[in-house]
Amino acid sequence: MSNLIPTGRTDIEWRNESTQKPPKAAVYPAEANADKILKAAYEHTATVWTGDFHNAKQVLAAMKKRVKRPSEKKRAGGGDAVAERSRNIQTAFHAHRMKQAQQSRILNMLAVEIGAGFTLDIPRAPDVKAALADVYGKPNDAPFLLPLNQLLGFIGAHEWHKKGVEIPALGGRIHVPFGVFSPLRGEYLDLIAAALAGSKFQTAFDIGTGSGIIAALLAKHGVPKITATDTNPRAVACACANFCRLDLDNIVIEKTDLFPAGCADLIVCNPPWLPAKPSSAVEAALYDPESRMLEGFLNGAAAHLNDGGEVWLVMSDLAEHLHLREQDFLPQCFQTASLEIAEVLQTRPKHAKAADENDPLAFARGREVTSLYRLKKAV
Ligand SMILES: C[S@@+](CC[C@H](N)C(=O)[O-])C[C@H]1O[C@@H](n2cnc3c(N)ncnc32)[C@H](O)[C@@H]1O
Repeated sequence: MSNLIPTGRTDIEWRNESTQKPPKAAVYPAEANADKILKAAYEHTATVWTGDFHNAKQVLAAMKKRVKRPSEKKRAGGGDAVAERSRNIQTAFHAHRMKQAQQSRILNMLAVEIGAGFTLDIPRAPDVKAALADVYGKPNDAPFLLPLNQLLGFIGAHEWHKKGVEIPALGGRIHVPFGVFSPLRGEYLDLIAAALAGSKFQTAFDIGTGSGIIAALLAKHGVPKITATDTNPRAVACACANFCRLDLDNIVIEKTDLFPAGCADLIVCNPPWLPAKPSSAVEAALYDPESRMLEGFLNGAAAHLNDGGEVWLVMSDLAEHLHLREQDFLPQCFQTASLEIAEVLQTRPKHAKAADENDPLAFARGREVTSLYRLKKAV
């Protein structure tokens, strides 16, 4: 999302990866502190930091403390607050997301000006060219404003992109840039690897391939011909680069909504797990509005499946625990799509959030089970 906003000098482009409204204006004060920036932020005015970069990070940290303070007081309520949350977990989920969105909007009001060619010309600033090129591609000619919090996110993502994520089931690393779903929580990949053991599929589709990890696993397990699809151009580029790096030349990647043309012996999909509206491009891999991708995938799968083939759906039951989906939603979807369950492989998440009692959704996360549904055409 990009927009021109007034600064009192010339109008300047405001870049923000989330769907938040741009500020009404931006100011360049000679001096600023967390309180002043927050006051302006609540009046929809962004503050452009022109001083030392490390001081900017400290001010952002101070802003985070102030913005997050009210929820910490609530947490101090202890047992009652936890019991209330578990009673009304769906409300807690929506309140949690709304609070996160509000906090993020306020924190994004501390910005920096990025000069032509992705330069950041303030004292002690790091070289941000590579991190910004990773996100935006071609360098900019005109300056733009960018929330400092996002710049720090881009720098972190760039480091991860270079380093890659070790995937034991693959016996290799997957490199994931900003804006593409990272298989950091890889338990579901172990389920896929287990299901692939001893299988003899000749052709496969990986629908919503993201980093390309599932297609890569299929190739490593000997599936000779694979087509991977995704609607996110960043994912398509990322998957393509990963297939090259892993020397996998039997995977075709397409920027396509759901299915490529034709049929396959195996069709795999790990859709976003929660039916809710994403608030940024990054969240589109986590939230599936009105279960559109899930239902689109299931309803179209049988028509793209060779006789005797299998449809594999990776899905967590977090949405059921958060009361965002009825318990019988998935079984009904399978029936509507003329698919029946052949086997369900299950695992529990091992990530830290599942055990974090301070996470308002810990009640649901602690019970979460991730399943790989092996489905066949109903007879
Ligand atoms: C949860 S991520 C899974 C990524 C990867 N398969 C994995 O398991 O790590 C879901 C992916 O589906 C993609 N996606 C969402 N809607 C889609 C659609 N209609 N057609 C194809 N891909 C879609 C998203 O861009 C995202 O990369």
